Amino acid sequence: MTKVLITGGAGFIGSACAKALMDRGDEVVLIDNFNDYYDPTLKEARIKKFLKGYKFKLYRGDIRDEKLVERIFKKEKINKVIHLAAMAGVRNSLLNPKLYLDVNVMGSVNLLEAAVKYKIKNFVFASSSSVYGNNKKVPFAETDPVDTPISPYAASKKADELIAHVYNHIYGLNVTALRFFTVYGPWGRPDMALMLFTEGIMKNEPIKVFNRGKMSRNFTYIDDIVSGVLTVLDKCTGYDVVNIGGDREETLTRYIEVLEDNLGKKAKKKLLPMQPGDVPTTVADIRKLRKLGWHPTTRIDQGIKNFVAWYREYYKVK
Ligand SMILES: NC(=O)c1ccc[n+]([C@@H]2O[C@H](COP(=O)([O-])OP(=O)(O)OC[C@H]3O[C@@H](n4cnc5c(N)ncnc54)[C@H](O)[C@@H]3O)[C@@H](O)[C@H]2O)c1
Repeated sequence: MTKVLITGGAGFIGSACAKALMDRGDEVVLIDNFNDYYDPTLKEARIKKFLKGYKFKLYRGDIRDEKLVERIFKKEKINKVIHLAAMAGVRNSLLNPKLYLDVNVMGSVNLLEAAVKYKIKNFVFASSSSVYGNNKKVPFAETDPVDTPISPYAASKKADELIAHVYNHIYGLNVTALRFFTVYGPWGRPDMALMLFTEGIMKNEPIKVFNRGKMSRNFTYIDDIVSGVLTVLDKCTGYDVVNIGGDREETLTRYIEVLEDNLGKKAKKKLLPMQPGDVPTTVADIRKLRKLGWHPTTRIDQGIKNFVAWYREYYKVK
């Protein structure tokens, strides 16, 4: 039986990966420090409600705690790692650059060290589409230059990709960086646009629309992300960098329209200029992951519908 350590296991993507792995019969061990970057009640609920009835081991702790990380690998006899714990959020990273680099880079080094020492078969970790910065060529391909990040968050993810390469080159660790493109869906993050827009529209408050709505994204539904992570966990060897994103470029304006339709209410939009560190467009070239047999299946019409249904139930609003 395969035993997978998921870091950031109480997070949006981590908890969803945990469920999918256990559904197919793998064992999982989670680590999360339940920090308050966003309301930890949601992290607790992912563990207690979303993963209710599942059997897994949870460590409440920090990936920067070298001794704890070592203890987990030693005790749990981990075979594979999905490393997702990080300080996420481009905008917040401008306010806390040291924290972002400490968690995202030094925390990752602790895990890579343990992965080598305990002979981990496969190590998959979260990078981000933000590494593409203000690249003009679209769609963004893994072979494009990504040497000009525009936020501490993006720089920390690029640093992770570089360090991971070292661990493959020197120690032969199988390690893949997954560049996630804007993930959304039920149990999603309260700091991300979909949740903020939903809250604003429900309360009849203005929603902040940056770059006056002239933004586009390959929004990626959580279930598609999970199937992509598992595909890479099962199939990738050596060192690789892989994009994982939806197959349609959607404008922010349409994203909001679909949300309005599902909520049955119009948004009051506050049109604002571009935010520092943010990028106007992220479009994924996903041919590499497609070659491994993966393809995204959920369009925003269905994905947002599922999100709104979850939101109404979780927050008990009509
Ligand atoms: N959601 C997206 O759209 C998106 C896009 C690109 C990249 N990513 C990356 O994917 C990963 C998962 O993102 P998510 O959306 O699930 O975010 P999330 O914040 O919901 O999950 C991350 C989890 O890591 C935990 N964590 C943070 N610092 C920790 C530490 N020092 N020790 C232990 N646990 C810690 C948090 O408590 C949180 O539960 C992150 O690395 C993020 O940067 C996400």
